[in-house]
Amino acid sequence: MKKPNTFYITTPIFYPNAELHMGNVYPVTLCDILARYHRAKGDTTYFLTGSDEHSTKVVKMAEKAGKSTEEFLEGTVGSFKTLFGALDISYDQFIRTSDREVHWPGAVLMWNKLVEAGDIYKKSYSGLYCVGCEAFVTEKDLIKGKCHYHDTVPELLEEENYFFRLSKYTEKVKDKITSGELMVMPDSRKAEILALLDRGLEDVSFSRPASKNPWAIPVPNDPTQTMYVWCDALVNYISAIGYGRDDAMFETYWPADFHVIGKDILRFHAAFWPAMLMSAGIPLPKTILVHGMILSGGRKMSKTLGNVIDPQILITEYGKDALRYFIARHLSTFEDSEITPESYKDAYNANLANGVGNLVSRVMKMVVSYDISYEIVKGENKLIKEYSAHLDRFEINKAIDIIFTKIGELDAFIQTSQPFKTIKTDIKKAQTDIVYLAQELHAVGEALAPFMPETSASIMSLVVSKKTPEKPLFERKA
Ligand code: MSP
Repeated sequence: MKKPNTFYITTPIFYPNAELHMGNVYPVTLCDILARYHRAKGDTTYFLTGSDEHSTKVVKMAEKAGKSTEEFLEGTVGSFKTLFGALDISYDQFIRTSDREVHWPGAVLMWNKLVEAGDIYKKSYSGLYCVGCEAFVTEKDLIKGKCHYHDTVPELLEEENYFFRLSKYTEKVKDKITSGELMVMPDSRKAEILALLDRGLEDVSFSRPASKNPWAIPVPNDPTQTMYVWCDALVNYISAIGYGRDDAMFETYWPADFHVIGKDILRFHAAFWPAMLMSAGIPLPKTILVHGMILSGGRKMSKTLGNVIDPQILITEYGKDALRYFIARHLSTFEDSEITPESYKDAYNANLANGVGNLVSRVMKMVVSYDISYEIVKGENKLIKEYSAHLDRFEINKAIDIIFTKIGELDAFIQTSQPFKTIKTDIKKAQTDIVYLAQELHAVGEALAPFMPETSASIMSLVVSKKTPEKPLFERKA
């Protein structure tokens, strides 16, 4: 039985067919903020991310690159980990679905449970398949014959596959979502999935002929078939924490508190996944959180569409905390947001270079020039207390706004109290004002920890050691 104050959060696992773009690092950064916040609160926290390796597009890309699938994956997965390192992503585990020790036992156990429940059967099927979505699609999912997410014409497949009785679970999944036992946030996404459930779910193909995707996990007792990528991928959320191999770990963390996903994969998480779990007799996750999409040129940023912004370039040019800041504050957590190089630079200059960076320089310069002495009093941090309620509801934008409002107030305080002038006429008042500013700046630093860990540590260290930064925390960009 999972204990209170245990927090388990997951990102989607990424297709390692190409480098990650802004749309992919987005959910990872959101999860990292939450994981850091819960760890700081003292919760037993587990943060999972990883790669979804049995997709046919991975195999195709490896072929195109003239490499074996394993060799190709070493390269892309390695670059995912390097990028997450560069962004200070504090994951506890990076699961790879090709990992035969960590992931496969859970995937096989899940398959066997679905079979035991009588929910797997074989049938011939012909249908349209979108490789971008890794899913069968119907005519009504298409715009002018093309997938609206990937802008590609789906392939016609005719196969004999194992099917999962998803239709049997339509009402059961609906009840769980309606009752709030399985929360889907925000309400607009809950309404979307309930509308889909109202139309009814069709049974879904859960395997492919092994000849077409030999790289995937073999179906137990039938070497001619391999598991459909979404069937094995969703299981990562439980295999990573021990399902099928470590019961104690599984009991510690499951059910997940948050599965964080984009809206394009809502039906897999809010229909397939709860149905599979119910079929296998496993409790459901608590919340599925659906974030907005990052748009570029008005369309979803995607590798397939080729309109991506490379996060590594932004990190090299502006620094990792600038990227974390932008994601937390300027991309709407629940709605779609457009990102352009100009909007990024403007936000950086206004709020980091001229905002927090400038405040740190001004305050610490006064501390050093006027030789102000103080001891930082560690007590309840009002900013953290105030933003906790928001973070508990995944309102990341509102949470970080509280800190930046404070930064604005401290700037205004310097403007009105002018300690750099009163130091000549009323030393005591100037000293009191500067000590107040240093104390508040320290609180800002502490509160920034989940959002901008490096900046947070720098601010706290400068205030405690009474030093000015050697160079501005955020250089202004022309
Ligand atoms: N492998 C599946 C997920 C399996 S989870 C059991 C997958 N992979 S993905 O690499 O295509 O996408 C991973 C995540 O990135 C998804 O949640 C998707 O919504 C998100 N994003 C991809 N492009 C995005 C934007 N442009 N904006 C925001 N998120 C986006 O789907």
